[in-house]
Amino acid sequence: MAVELSPIDKAKFVAAKRAVDCIEDGMKLGLGTGSTAAWMVRCLAERIREEGLQVQGVPTSSRTAELARSLGVPITTLDEARWLDLTIDGADEFDPELNLIKGGGAALLQEKIVASASDQMIVITDAAKEVRQLGAFPLPVEVIPFGWKSTKTLIEELLGSMNVLSCECALRMKDGAPLLTDEANYIVDLHLKRINEPRQLSMALNQIPGVVENGLFIDICDMVIIGHGDGSVVVR
Ligand code: 5RP
Repeated sequence: MAVELSPIDKAKFVAAKRAVDCIEDGMKLGLGTGSTAAWMVRCLAERIREEGLQVQGVPTSSRTAELARSLGVPITTLDEARWLDLTIDGADEFDPELNLIKGGGAALLQEKIVASASDQMIVITDAAKEVRQLGAFPLPVEVIPFGWKSTKTLIEELLGSMNVLSCECALRMKDGAPLLTDEANYIVDLHLKRINEPRQLSMALNQIPGVVENGLFIDICDMVIIGHGDGSVVVR
């Protein structure tokens, strides 16, 4: 019996399917992380099964690696692949310039490395992620556990000097302990409400000792495919 998808899952599915239609035989692919990216891995597995499509995927998290393996999607490492044709990933927010906030799923570090080593990045999303200005979604910053409280203080001082609307910073927790990323780092979420200068903020954050990477993806995404609950898609 076919299962009826909820409107939000339908939106994610149709966006993922449209992106997977762009994949060509022989491509090396970056496989994103999150619930929308999981739809992409399922759609890709279907094309591999039904058309015999030959691809190699580089997963951006242990979760995506596990899903790909379970569905028979061939995976490799970025070091093996060296350079990728296309990365398909979700996002937490995107603006009219196709700049992104990512990292809601704590995979921003591998996601940024993989997307930056790709000829093209396609973001797949539902309409709720489209914003005029980034920042309503808390900006994730991956930090080294050693001295994280001092790193957080330096981040707060930076935000104070940059005239941000609000600068509440919170260590991301899971099951009563700091959440650990795949690289065994912590995530500090910056509740900024609005980010006026995303490029400057991204560069300044990455200058702070202890900051590994931040969730602002500036000039990395080439195309956003927005799915809707009625099955339609819009491409930006
Ligand atoms: C993970 C991410 C995800 O792509 C982002 O959080 C969107 O996830 P979802 O598709 O589940 O809404 O950046 O680090």
